[in-house]
Amino acid sequence: MQVRFRLDAELRFSAPFSQEAEESCRALIDEANRVLFMKGVPKGVDRSEVGQITRSEFSGNTLTLTVESGAYTRAHDALFRFRKQVAPSLGKHRLGIREIVVTDYSIELEGAFPENFRTPELPFIKKAVLSGRVLSVDLAVSASDLENRIPDRLVRLFEEKIEAAEYGGKGEHWELIYESGAKARHFEGDPTAEMIQRGWIKHALSRGQWIHGPQSTQLFRAFEQIVVDEIIKPMGFTEMIFPKLVPWEVWMKSGHTKGVYPEIYYVCTPKTRDAAYWEDIGDYFKVTGEVWVDEIRNRIDGPIGGLCYAQCPSFWPFLQGETLANDCLPIRIFDRSGTSHRYESGGIHGIERVDEFHRIEILWLGTAEQTVETADRLHDAYTHVFEDLLELEWRCAKVTPWFMAQEGMIGPDNGCGCGGRIGTTDYEALLPYSNSWLEFQNVSINGDKYPKGFNVKIQSGADCWSGCSGIGLERWTAAFLAQKGLDIGNWPDIVAKKVGEPKNLFKFL
Ligand code: SER
Ligand code: ZN
Repeated sequence: MQVRFRLDAELRFSAPFSQEAEESCRALIDEANRVLFMKGVPKGVDRSEVGQITRSEFSGNTLTLTVESGAYTRAHDALFRFRKQVAPSLGKHRLGIREIVVTDYSIELEGAFPENFRTPELPFIKKAVLSGRVLSVDLAVSASDLENRIPDRLVRLFEEKIEAAEYGGKGEHWELIYESGAKARHFEGDPTAEMIQRGWIKHALSRGQWIHGPQSTQLFRAFEQIVVDEIIKPMGFTEMIFPKLVPWEVWMKSGHTKGVYPEIYYVCTPKTRDAAYWEDIGDYFKVTGEVWVDEIRNRIDGPIGGLCYAQCPSFWPFLQGETLANDCLPIRIFDRSGTSHRYESGGIHGIERVDEFHRIEILWLGTAEQTVETADRLHDAYTHVFEDLLELEWRCAKVTPWFMAQEGMIGPDNGCGCGGRIGTTDYEALLPYSNSWLEFQNVSINGDKYPKGFNVKIQSGADCWSGCSGIGLERWTAAFLAQKGLDIGNWPDIVAKKVGEPKNLFKFL
């Protein structure tokens, strides 16, 4: 992809240019073009690729410049370098820069654009026209936008959109790594329907939300106990409690702010805690029996973030900015302190695809070797549980890493050079009633993504890596019941024993 930048800017000074000041400024422009802008440019780069001031006009207090560049000393970089150089020299003529007004900024990208490429719509983009191999973009940007490197980030964004459009057709990556043999099946039905039928669960009043009765809860706790006995204890994971309200600051560092918006349950705060401010909202309900939602909307701030989505990101501020001693690694922890929430829209189904769910999140970190080793041991432990204890028909596959999927990216990141171990393995169980496979948990090696995002280091100077594994209790339940049915007599011993006799507290008349 060839790129060109061009900007027009007015540099407004504190006083009009004298003849002398103008002459010394012209000399500076000349020198900047020859020397200043060439600094740091690799040898052999064509001069036309490097930022140059191609027009300069003096009028009263104002110096108007046109700066053009290819990929080196980009137009905005050249502008700011020039500002820095010009300030002391013009100071001698009692001229100070008061303001820089960017009147025009354009980017031209030349290359192959896939057919389904769409230019992003953003406030900075005034106009974007794609004609054959050339995309011309006019920007509305201020000098401070340029200092924030908005043009560079836009170019990166265009490149990302091109990549996404290119492998858009390929969809998610999925590569089988293991498939269990057939296991005893005792049920052909939809487990959710059967659970409702037997009064084990009931629809709650929010979308994709269930109230789990004692029997379903017993099963959740039995699975949790199996995870504790077989995985958490033997491998030495220690319990922590991660927050379940996630502010933007966490998702900015985890990368979720790149794309998770369609699935967030947003969280807002009251504009004030003053009871008088809210009195009429309560009164409205007393009189109408309705909640005055339209008016509530005017009285809240935010959203400040959302409800727990991926569970592990909220842990990382605990380590933010720290250096970990070699001898405390690997760290192995887990959280089971609350629900996760995803706006699943049309996808809700039974207890397996819900907006509110329960998950044990296992997390570990250390050197790359320690992180990979933990993931491998975890995989072996899970294999034992699914094969020998739950006797499930299951398989696992290497898939698009969860953090890429959650950032709205698809397909494997081929360019990361991470030695092939970074990524997500999904565990899937057969649902006989729909003859489909249900993803019921995952194991991921996340590389240095989180340590980098939250600035976490290791004493030895080795790269810090981390991994995580989400165990979805609804999903385990759906998978298990879909294969084994709801009659405890048909369940593998260990599950039957851990559940005990299903409790039936309620009798409805
Ligand atoms: N954090 C991972 C995810 O959201 C594992 O739970 O998928
Ligand atoms: Zn995680």
